[in-house]
Amino acid sequence: MKLVFATHNQNKFNEVKVLLPSSIELVSLTDIGCHDEIPETAETLVGNAQLKADYVTQHYGLSCFADDTGLLVDTLNGAPGVYSARYAGAHKNAEDNMKKLLLALQKKSNRSAQFKTAIALNLKKEKLIFNGIVSGTICKKKQGSNGFGYDPIFIPTGYEHTFAELPLAVKNQISHRGKAIQKLINHLKQFS
Ligand code: IMP
Repeated sequence: MKLVFATHNQNKFNEVKVLLPSSIELVSLTDIGCHDEIPETAETLVGNAQLKADYVTQHYGLSCFADDTGLLVDTLNGAPGVYSARYAGAHKNAEDNMKKLLLALQKKSNRSAQFKTAIALNLKKEKLIFNGIVSGTICKKKQGSNGFGYDPIFIPTGYEHTFAELPLAVKNQISHRGKAIQKLINHLKQFS
């Protein structure tokens, strides 16, 4: 079965590809000749994931899944949330995003936060959503150089190090995206 992962991010793609049963031929947006920046104009993570999956299904007639992730900080009423990528502006710069978040939390004692991922799967006529969440705290300064995005300032609950300090294999086991992907994989196993 051919299945599109609606992403331009090759790292994310490779991470998921090795986890899927070999009966599923996973292809990327590039593989199907889609070079469009698919609009993410919904107000929720689920909405954006669904928009991306629907775009591929409507334009290419293929089964597809797409993901969307946000960092929700409790004391900021869930910000940056669905706007995590462009928290400090449309240029989507991770350093600027972290700087802005650390500044916003400077005088706050409650630094708890969650990463949430939503995956939308359009499989033939079936539409499904898989969610993943990891709780943690935002530390006071950047630590570590692994990963991407807000990883250097997020310490998952039960650990003393940020996602950027933990090995990728550990992050994948406990992360928002890892959990959502595991649910997707469990569902897809019936097709192997
Ligand atoms: P996306 O929906 O996966 O593109 O994620 C949106 C934004 O959330 C990214 O641009 C990052 O800023 C942030 N983000 C998503 N996943 C992670 C992660 O695993 N670690 C740190 N930041 C992340």
